[in-house]
Amino acid sequence: MKNIKTLDHVDVAGKRVLLRLDLNVPVRDGKITDVTRIERARPTIAELARKGARVIVLSHFDRPKGKRVPEMSLRPLSTAMRDVLGLDVFFADDCVGPIAEEAVANLEPGQVLLLENTRFHQGEEENDDSLARQLASLADLYVNDAFSAAHRAHASTAGVAAHLPSHAGRLMQREVEALTAALEDPERPVCAIVGGSKISTKLELLGNLVEKVDMLVIGGAMANTFLAAQGTDVGRSLQEPDMHATARDILAIARAKNCEIVLPVDAVTATEFRANPPVRVVPIGEVPADAMILDVGPKTVELLIARLPGFRTLVWNGPLGAFETPPFDAATVALAHAVADATDAGALRSVAGGGDTVAALRHAGVMERMSYVSTAGGAFLEWLEGKVLPGILALDAMNGVLMPAV
Ligand code: 3PG
Ligand code: MG
Repeated sequence: MKNIKTLDHVDVAGKRVLLRLDLNVPVRDGKITDVTRIERARPTIAELARKGARVIVLSHFDRPKGKRVPEMSLRPLSTAMRDVLGLDVFFADDCVGPIAEEAVANLEPGQVLLLENTRFHQGEEENDDSLARQLASLADLYVNDAFSAAHRAHASTAGVAAHLPSHAGRLMQREVEALTAALEDPERPVCAIVGGSKISTKLELLGNLVEKVDMLVIGGAMANTFLAAQGTDVGRSLQEPDMHATARDILAIARAKNCEIVLPVDAVTATEFRANPPVRVVPIGEVPADAMILDVGPKTVELLIARLPGFRTLVWNGPLGAFETPPFDAATVALAHAVADATDAGALRSVAGGGDTVAALRHAGVMERMSYVSTAGGAFLEWLEGKVLPGILALDAMNGVLMPAV
């Protein structure tokens, strides 16, 4: 994906630029709890404004399903953008039609306008071409900086690109470069760490990774399923009995592809899942019948840290344990620090992504020390699954040819 057109390939001065961002930020009790996605929009907005573009921002927010849901208005985001980015941001109550047209007509070069939630229109998620044309009619150029929404083939992420010259923004560009360097064209050996609770949700991802990486570490409750599938008693641990055959298939493919699979050798267990219960650290194979595995054990962490110097590239998705509940964050935090140290030392390129993973790395305090942390959830997973993301596919390619995904 090195050949999509970026802001390096267009003169934006005086042009009306339709900029697709992902302003779908987490909100609790009406307050934005994490402004990372707004911050990450800064380089592109700042560059476009500095170069004299009229910046018309599009985004979805939440899932209003084609209806005007007042609580899902993007209006508060215009204030948040001003607070976080220090820019005056105008707001229009609709993303197409006379209201949007008038707001765009009043926009001066260097000014920024935010349009109302694209998902207030039924045609957005249906990728309706007439909505895409209406959006396109507002501008001279389309810039997509919403990598985290690029797995959606919607009017504002894909359809509109058919009707305007379409370029990647700086964030999209960085995401694509980082993920390309991690999986498509990585420095080897490559290690992937995949955690989380269910194999069933990460099946395609595991299937793709065993073909691409040299070592795959499986943690989280997902590891329990792999252990149980091989006949290990995991007590009352969360696992998926109907995925045992699938787990064995993945292990067989890994063997055939020379991908080493690493499963935990010990575990932190408890008989109840709550903060700071009495815990027992046991070797795998000795999990008490009434206990649950809630984190990988210290021997496993030691083993993983000892293996890190053998790798040049690391891809991380999913925590090793139930990191939101202490002390089951210990393994994830310890490994995150070791990965950050290796990255600081220039020995490792580390790329992480996915909602839980970002929360876990933030909790470990190492967000800024990874080579790259993607803000994408579903889009990051689909990339790891080897899928071509429609939002990227829709952008203009350098020679009319877009390289396939990983
Ligand atoms: C996200 O938050 O992952 C993106 O904004 C996509 O949102 P969606 O899952 O509602 O399409
Ligand atoms: Mg979402």
